[in-house]
Amino acid sequence: MTIPMLDLKRQYALLEPELEPKILDCLRGGAYVMGKPVAHLEQTLAAYLGVRHAVAVGNGTDALTIALVALGVGPGDEVITTPFTFFATAEAVASLGATPVFADVRPDTYNLDPESVAKCITPRTKAILPVHIFGQPADMDTLNAIARANKLAVIEDACQAIGAAIGGRKVGGWGDVGCFSFFPTKNLGAFGDGGLLTTNNDEYATLFRALRAHGGGHTGAAARALLEGKPVPPSPAESENPLYNPYKYYNYIIGYNSRLDTLQAVILNVKFPHLDEWNAQRTKNAAFYQEHIHRTDITLPHQAAGTTHVWHQFALCTRYKKEMGEALAKQGIGSGVFYPVPLHLQKAFDTLQYRPGALPVSEMLARETLCLPVFPGMTEEELSYVADAVNAFKP
Ligand SMILES: Cc1ncc(COP(=O)(O)O)c(C=O)c1O
Repeated sequence: MTIPMLDLKRQYALLEPELEPKILDCLRGGAYVMGKPVAHLEQTLAAYLGVRHAVAVGNGTDALTIALVALGVGPGDEVITTPFTFFATAEAVASLGATPVFADVRPDTYNLDPESVAKCITPRTKAILPVHIFGQPADMDTLNAIARANKLAVIEDACQAIGAAIGGRKVGGWGDVGCFSFFPTKNLGAFGDGGLLTTNNDEYATLFRALRAHGGGHTGAAARALLEGKPVPPSPAESENPLYNPYKYYNYIIGYNSRLDTLQAVILNVKFPHLDEWNAQRTKNAAFYQEHIHRTDITLPHQAAGTTHVWHQFALCTRYKKEMGEALAKQGIGSGVFYPVPLHLQKAFDTLQYRPGALPVSEMLARETLCLPVFPGMTEEELSYVADAVNAFKP
């Protein structure tokens, strides 16, 4: 039997009858960037995530960057985050000339350890940037309390966790800003790049809309007014003079080109209604492994009480990561290693001068986590095959 780590072709086959006509309509329509499908996606996801604003952008990395810019993070500022994440989390901070400061994570949830975060706070700290790693919510209550006590902003990296929740309240709505990715492998994935910012703050939403499109147009003017503490200009009436429109090709702040393609929004609008069912299937698959894998020399992933985990990855810990991955591969089973190098030890961050041993839990996880296939659509036969192979593995 061959079981890939993730099989997107199965999902495509399921959605093909609905997707293909809509994709063709979009292609024939002649409008390819932003537009009504993007606005529809934003409205749908704002309602789903329980936030006032959802602003679509080009990818999750841009969402993080734009969030940081809108919160005023720049050179000289520090942002506390986790080293056990995808590179983009800290890259966004460093790309703005700010310094990522890495706190350690908890061995059970793999998420930021609030005690370690508290120890990293300095007068330069501007924000805390927790990641809901592998689809499991970080301890937002405690992190928000630390942030409030120290007047820090909170940006959630929810790129792997759409639909995850704490006590029924979805991630992305816990901090000042939430950031999501629609990279194809994500629980809600596009057919290319895509991302989303969420917030309950009207002013941040205006800044996001301006920053994603070169700081131009009416939102650019509104963003500029906000930054200068001036009244926001009223929405423009259609210009009567075709040669002068103060909102077209007039730019008011420096931003980015991070608009979402219409086609990606069309695809995401078709996929979104399936998200809860797909997350439920991931949860069922994870429960199957929890029930059927019974080795004493590995640690299965833990789910924090009161949270909804969306199982972007099923990451177990084993000292025999390499050997187990190879043994599974021999039996046709794909597995994944996320993430082999904790960010504080990445070459790209060597100027930060962290040494091995600085963040022991993150380093242990980087050595030991192995991810099993958990994608929606796996059959019970496949799940059994994987569980049996893990149980039968001989180090
Ligand atoms: C935790 C995390 N943060 C940020 C990103 C960046 O998202 P994107 O690839 O859409 O830029 C990703 C995914 O790739 C991610 O998993």
